[in-house]
Amino acid sequence: MLELFGIKYIGCKVLASSVGMDKAYTKMIFEKAKLNQAKYVYIKKYEGDKFIYIDENLDEHKLDLEDLVKIVENKIKYPMFVKPSNSGSSVGVNKAKTQEELIKSIKNAAEFDSKILIEQGIIGKEVECAVLGNGQIGVIATKPGEILAAGDFYSFDSKYNDENSKTLLEARITEEQKQEVRELAIKAFNAIDGNGLSRVDFFVEEETGKIYINEINTMPGFTSISMFPKLFEAYGYTYSELLDKVIEVELA
Ligand SMILES: Nc1ncnc2c1ncn2[C@@H]1O[C@H](COP(=O)(O)OP(=O)(O)OP(=O)(O)O)[C@@H](O)[C@H]1O
Ligand SMILES: [Mg+2]
Repeated sequence: MLELFGIKYIGCKVLASSVGMDKAYTKMIFEKAKLNQAKYVYIKKYEGDKFIYIDENLDEHKLDLEDLVKIVENKIKYPMFVKPSNSGSSVGVNKAKTQEELIKSIKNAAEFDSKILIEQGIIGKEVECAVLGNGQIGVIATKPGEILAAGDFYSFDSKYNDENSKTLLEARITEEQKQEVRELAIKAFNAIDGNGLSRVDFFVEEETGKIYINEINTMPGFTSISMFPKLFEAYGYTYSELLDKVIEVELA
């Protein structure tokens, strides 16, 4: 069993945990796995109002914010989402509908991390799938649930302070889409060398029905009201059975 400072633990090992935590590197692995994701631009903070644009070959270009914005606008359309690469709970994540908001959002994200992602906004449903297992013993995936975020998107406030945000244990998508999400969730989990458990988040685009992977959470919320145990409850495992299952994966 895995140990950290002599204490046994369950879940992803160092590599998968690190990749899952860092959105820029998650994207690179997902790209390699040919998982469909929103178009994005990866940048790093440099000094003052200067940023480093990291191109498709990972070559770095130091640019003024003004020139950087031109590159971004050439590659992706508004609305865009600007995110610190290392964050969580939507902290530092902003939606930008105009150039002014884009500039403000980049500056804001830079307060949380030196690495920043700017993504094409996907208009559609937000669905989440819970997975359990590992490459050796096999991975199972629940039916995808859906997030009904109050407000413009699932921001920190919408997540934790707005009781109008709701979750559905069965996403309002077709059976084929549900099956595809489950397969993609397992593929993403294996692609980062996942172990134990994860929640994999997707968007289903309204206009096209296309599925986009958003992120993988290698240590998903695990309170009794969190999506991960709720999705597994719908799958057939009680909370305590789920705990046993997670431990069994480690002991297998
Ligand atoms: N490309 C996008 N298109 C549409 N909405 C998006 C996009 N990226 C992010 N969002 C919205 O912003 C929210 C937060 O983004 P994201 O899940 O990437 O950040 P997070 O901070 O990692 O959240 P978590 O707490 O789940 O780890 C999403 O739940 C979604 O509502
Ligand atoms: Mg998220």
